[in-house]
Amino acid sequence: MPVKKTFTADEIGDIVAEMTLEEKAAFCDGEDFWHTKAVARLGIPSVMMCDGPHGLRKRDPALKSAGLLGSVPAVCFPTAVTTACSWDRALLYEMGQALGDECKKEKVSILLGPGVNIKRSPLCGRNFEYFSEDPLLAGEMAAAFINGVQSRGVGTSLKHYAANNQETRRMTVSAVVDERALREIYLPAFETAVKKAQPKTVMCAYNRLNGEYCAENELLLTRILRDEWGFEGLVVSDWGAVNDRVKGIAAGNDLEMPSSKGVNAAKILKAVREGRLSEEALDKCVGLILAVVAQAAAQIENGYPFDPDKQHRLAAKVAAGSLVLMKNDDGVLPLKKGAKVAVIGEMARFPRYQGAGSSLINPTRMENALDCLRALGVNTVYSPGYSRKSPTPSAELISKAVEAARASDTALVFAGLTEDYESEGFDRTHMDLPASHNKLIEAVSRANRNTVVVLAGGSPVSMPWLGNVKGLLNTYLAGQAGAKAAADILTGAVNPSGKLAETYPCCEKCTPGARHFPGNPMTVEYRESIYVGYRYYEKAKRPVAFPFGFGLSYTSFAYSGLRLSSKKIKAEDGLTVSLRVKNTGARAGAEIVQLYVADKESTVFRPEKELKGFEKVALEPGEEKEVTFKLDQRAFAFYNTLTKDWCVESGLFEILAGASSADIRLRAEVEVAAQGPETPMPDLREKAPRYYTGDVLDVEPEQFEALLGYPLPPAFREAGQPVELTDNFENAQETKWGGRLCDFITFVMRLADKGPNSGMMAAVALQTPFRNFVTMSGGLFTEKMAGGLLMILNGDHPCKGLGKIVSGVPHMVKNLNRFLKTI
Ligand code: BGC
Repeated sequence: MPVKKTFTADEIGDIVAEMTLEEKAAFCDGEDFWHTKAVARLGIPSVMMCDGPHGLRKRDPALKSAGLLGSVPAVCFPTAVTTACSWDRALLYEMGQALGDECKKEKVSILLGPGVNIKRSPLCGRNFEYFSEDPLLAGEMAAAFINGVQSRGVGTSLKHYAANNQETRRMTVSAVVDERALREIYLPAFETAVKKAQPKTVMCAYNRLNGEYCAENELLLTRILRDEWGFEGLVVSDWGAVNDRVKGIAAGNDLEMPSSKGVNAAKILKAVREGRLSEEALDKCVGLILAVVAQAAAQIENGYPFDPDKQHRLAAKVAAGSLVLMKNDDGVLPLKKGAKVAVIGEMARFPRYQGAGSSLINPTRMENALDCLRALGVNTVYSPGYSRKSPTPSAELISKAVEAARASDTALVFAGLTEDYESEGFDRTHMDLPASHNKLIEAVSRANRNTVVVLAGGSPVSMPWLGNVKGLLNTYLAGQAGAKAAADILTGAVNPSGKLAETYPCCEKCTPGARHFPGNPMTVEYRESIYVGYRYYEKAKRPVAFPFGFGLSYTSFAYSGLRLSSKKIKAEDGLTVSLRVKNTGARAGAEIVQLYVADKESTVFRPEKELKGFEKVALEPGEEKEVTFKLDQRAFAFYNTLTKDWCVESGLFEILAGASSADIRLRAEVEVAAQGPETPMPDLREKAPRYYTGDVLDVEPEQFEALLGYPLPPAFREAGQPVELTDNFENAQETKWGGRLCDFITFVMRLADKGPNSGMMAAVALQTPFRNFVTMSGGLFTEKMAGGLLMILNGDHPCKGLGKIVSGVPHMVKNLNRFLKTI
């Protein structure tokens, strides 16, 4: 039946009123892994959701069991870590539109992204999928992306809400975050995206936040998201994030994905019947799902036109605007015309261009740098330098690469993190490149003074060879056409214009959260509070390898004429800032102008400065443009934990305009009048002095507790604590059978496939809570079997427990094929 585009609130109310209690409880659960449930009786269709976010990962219906690898071919754009470096809202919008088009072609109604979690540590395995360490930049990029996708009528899913900043124990760990860090660092990117783009859905995270699962966190899902920010769409659980479904409904978690095949619908039904859950709360969830589903279904079109070649060119354009030139001594780049170039490293032929896990795209085409350079007429000689398959240096490959480098004018070394170094599902434990890459770069740079490293990977790496190379181009994970963009930049066909959306630290131990990442079995304590990324390095006066916002161009820019609308303002009136930027070089280029605000006099602790605006300005040689920023009250505010509101403290502020966080070109002061002296200001100077100096590498528990306002929750499981459904094999490893099972699983995983998702699968096997065995297997592993497993692990009646498991096996075997077809 034809679906209406939108329903009025009354119409939705009428449909909800027509639904039976059973239908409503079932409607809050998906149909399978990727679809919402239809209610044929009422003409309610089912719609499809797919990953995302930098391409479409739609299960290939032709395959029997697709898993993570079997998806239909789709254009693989650069991942978020890369696109954030463009600082270009228009580009993100355009990419969003293209993804919306591809969704329409595939009849996908909701694209599961973007991810806006803050890069708390460079070690987070999923940083490639997130934008930045800075909430303003992350939020702006996400809003532009969402607006682009949704301009096509396709919905998005803003994820993972919230404080999901690591992969280790992501389904069970509780992030212990103080209120200011939450409000000033971890939530604002979500807030900006919701306020500026109204994503159709928000995906709640797996983890717990301050003890409460995000999937059942009323503060997050209702009070902040809807009441404060005005979110109008539906909340969907991350795949398997549901813990207590009844609590989740009451908290505002509307839709469970993937389907628990009736397991949780039965619980909802029972809770309503017993008066433990109000029917009104259920109706609210149903109404929100209905509204999104109706709108999403209405935009489905047959034969939607789609041109993969055009999208491939767009993927190259996005990459070209995002890659970051990090070093260019003596103008080693662009390559001189006619120069003989040694292209070294297997990644020049087999690029690392995307991350791994749920965002793994099956690309429509692949470019590689060697072919692209040759197509541009570069005189190349190729040498593999290392084997992609092994981190162990090969003396033979290195010596051949050295020979090639010696015989050339310039040596380009393609190096980076290989697939097994970073992925969804696990975190890195160090920042090193494979030893084979480091050794190669060292040797080549000794053989040829004009060595340029072309780096790939989703996160910062340590660069022991940095002082020996003249050039460094960071391609991050640049998508299927990224190699074309890299070749264009290396040859000078394109002028680089990306800037780092994160700080490159000197080493992993120097990062602010290092001592508390990824935390303990039960909790991860965000002891560094608001001092994430540049906010920490600047406050604590620590050196970095490359600062936030840094990136080079083949031209140069001059800043001048900083003007403020007033030297004295009332906070509520805001401030207009303008300045001029001029291209002083000989080539067209684009400059990313960054505006920071510094609170010079403050009772509360604050970072040295914070990013409050940015613009990317394209300029012809000699051209000058005026850039204007409008700063509102919030640009000067901190989150006041006493008044539970944003608050500006009267006093002197500095406005800083720069080419990076460490390269401030213009500054001016403004006197801001705000709250009167009666406004209470949290003053922790005595109880938590470290936060005032920024010396937060190892904050004492007492100081963190003073900031939190309550004692630290237990970080470890109690000895002998019974294993429950919310636990996993890792939690159970102290038990007699748990330890053996852990060893067995690890052994099997090692034997299993070594593909890009093998690391993730191993982590999933050990860290998935037992409750998910039931809900995520679509009921194949029954509650009775789960009960049996707990009996074995807890050592009470292991034989009886085994019996319960064995008795469920025929049911599993019988239905396995049917289930696999839906993944
Ligand atoms: C990931 C989400 C993803 C979902 C569906 C989860 O494991 O955390 O980002 O959208 O799976 O694949």
